[in-house]
Amino acid sequence: MPDQGAEPSSPLKTPAPRGAAARLLRRKPVEALVAQSGHGAGGDLRRSLGLWQLTMISIGATLGTGVFVVLGEAVPEAGPAVVVSFMLAGLTALFSALSYAELAGTIPVAGSSYSYAYATMGEFVAWVCGWCLLLEYGVSVAAVAVGWGQYIDELLGGAFAVSLPQALSAPPGEGGLFNVPALAVVLLAMVFLLGGAKESARANTVMVAVKVSALLLFCGVAAMGVRAGNYQPFMPLGAAGVSAAGATLFFSYIGFDAASTAGEEAKNPQRDLPRGILLSLAVVTALYCLVAAVAVGAEPWRDFEGTEAGLAAVLRHVTGQDVWPVLLAFGAVVAIASVVLTVLYGQTRILFAMSRDGLVPGVFSRVDPGSGSPRANTVIVSLFCGALAAAVPLGRLADATSIGTLFAFGLVNVAVLVLRRTRPTMRRTFRVPASPLVPLAGAGLCLWLMYSLDAVTWAVFGVWMAAGVVVYFGYGMRRSRLGNAPGPEAPTASTEE
Ligand code: ALA
Repeated sequence: MPDQGAEPSSPLKTPAPRGAAARLLRRKPVEALVAQSGHGAGGDLRRSLGLWQLTMISIGATLGTGVFVVLGEAVPEAGPAVVVSFMLAGLTALFSALSYAELAGTIPVAGSSYSYAYATMGEFVAWVCGWCLLLEYGVSVAAVAVGWGQYIDELLGGAFAVSLPQALSAPPGEGGLFNVPALAVVLLAMVFLLGGAKESARANTVMVAVKVSALLLFCGVAAMGVRAGNYQPFMPLGAAGVSAAGATLFFSYIGFDAASTAGEEAKNPQRDLPRGILLSLAVVTALYCLVAAVAVGAEPWRDFEGTEAGLAAVLRHVTGQDVWPVLLAFGAVVAIASVVLTVLYGQTRILFAMSRDGLVPGVFSRVDPGSGSPRANTVIVSLFCGALAAAVPLGRLADATSIGTLFAFGLVNVAVLVLRRTRPTMRRTFRVPASPLVPLAGAGLCLWLMYSLDAVTWAVFGVWMAAGVVVYFGYGMRRSRLGNAPGPEAPTASTEE
């Protein structure tokens, strides 16, 4: 098969695929991806997002359950050295974030890693990547929404001494009938998203301000209880404990890539996407390390064992009052709602890109001319995620979110290397330093973290991927627009330097 991306021949040629292997490996030219940017069936997406909003989208999708809930579970694994675990997980995220920054600046479209894989490794790998993103985005929305329901319950209990009936706050299999709060937060996010990207970004910015304030409030109040003795011994469970906690805490970094799904609604995507991704990661890492350092300084690490809302428990321990934990629970409720909003947004835009390529039904790329947003797509995705959140106990499936994300991140690191080779002179607004070392290390770290996940998670992942392969061969491969295109896919715009 001729190399569509090779230099110096024209990158726009899309030869007719021959044979099954050629069909699986057909690549979508970068120029075709960029030229289609913003266009959907029936209308165009509206370019309304600047650097500030893009950074807020990534922080919105990242800062949530991980720091409010998972940190408390990771402390017993690592002791006070949980701060180092956060740094380790952040370093893993940083390697991949650099690769995301390079590709998002070079191929600023809505499909994120799905589109990068389509341009570099071909349709089948792109499909696999998109299928993994359904785990990272779609399934995690449902899982995070379930966590939101639990916090609402805690907030209502702490503030008003009322609790929701079990039948209406848990799914079948966990002692209930229907998880109403989980459904409610997804529907609320849907209402914002139907208003358009700009309105959703505005709501998200307010929510990010609330959650960052809640964490700073936590640091300010809990700092009064910090005792030097609580940091001794610093690494009671050794390096193995630190790395196990690092793998657990990787969950808290998932979402920094969300800005890369907004490439078609950004005002200046080439410049702002790389900056937004890296800036959000820097802010989030700094906050995580600060919160972790204060938390383990204020409460002996062993006392985190078995506590549910770890940070709230620290505040109760330090102040002996209920008002601070209630305030923190309010922050957590807002924090998790903003994760639901931004991750749901990301899922709709990824499906938008896949639909435009013909790999999923056309309804997902239909744009409403009034709001400039994919409304039908938003409703379908929200109802699906809402139903999942309301009716399914998602414990195991939520673990699968991490493995799917790591796989997609690994592919992005590889995509940087492939594009550097196939299109070396292409204009890049950001370049990963020390390539190929850094992307290789990024891919290696992702593999290593995947390896440290348990066998059941791997089994769930295997079943999910097998289902994805069946759907691709049954639907996507036949309907692929690239596969059915009569000639060159498109455009004229040059992306060479
Ligand atoms: N990183 C996101 C969270 O912690 C998934 O909620």
